[in-house]
Amino acid sequence: MSCPAMAILPILTAPDARLKAVSRSVATVDDGVRALMDDMLETMYAAPGVGLAAVQVNVPKRIIVMDLARDKAPPEPRFFINPEIIWQSEQVAVFSEGCLSLPEMFDLVERPVSVRLRYLNYQGRPQEDTAEGLFADCIQHEMDHLEGVLFVDHLSRLKRNAILRKLQKARRLAANA
Ligand code: NI
Repeated sequence: MSCPAMAILPILTAPDARLKAVSRSVATVDDGVRALMDDMLETMYAAPGVGLAAVQVNVPKRIIVMDLARDKAPPEPRFFINPEIIWQSEQVAVFSEGCLSLPEMFDLVERPVSVRLRYLNYQGRPQEDTAEGLFADCIQHEMDHLEGVLFVDHLSRLKRNAILRKLQKARRLAANA
């Protein structure tokens, strides 16, 4: 039997209304879900990015892939299905965030510095983790996607509109290039 090839999926970019969808829970972690996660991981690596929610590839299901390994380090793929935050620190930190759905755009977002989460892993088994620092930032950013929220939604309207305008301008320039 041949090994099924992984596919790179198109990533939706703001202000696409489909990014505002609230994602549905996954009922069963089966081979179809695992194939989607494999494709999402491939898509994220190709972009390149460190996190991707299924809704960003137009599949509004509660699935996240992530890899926070440094450039030269071996890959450390992580998979989160139906993630829930069950505790968050009162202490917050300011993180510089970007998003594959807002290419080349970055700004500062304040979030709890540490969270505890529960989710199903690649095999569909329940798991708990405590996330701190970059991991905490990334999982909260990706979990926002499951609610249809982008990092710019945490900014003032003035800053959000400035970023969306810049994005539109970049897209126009790319189309005319
Ligand atoms: Ni994002």
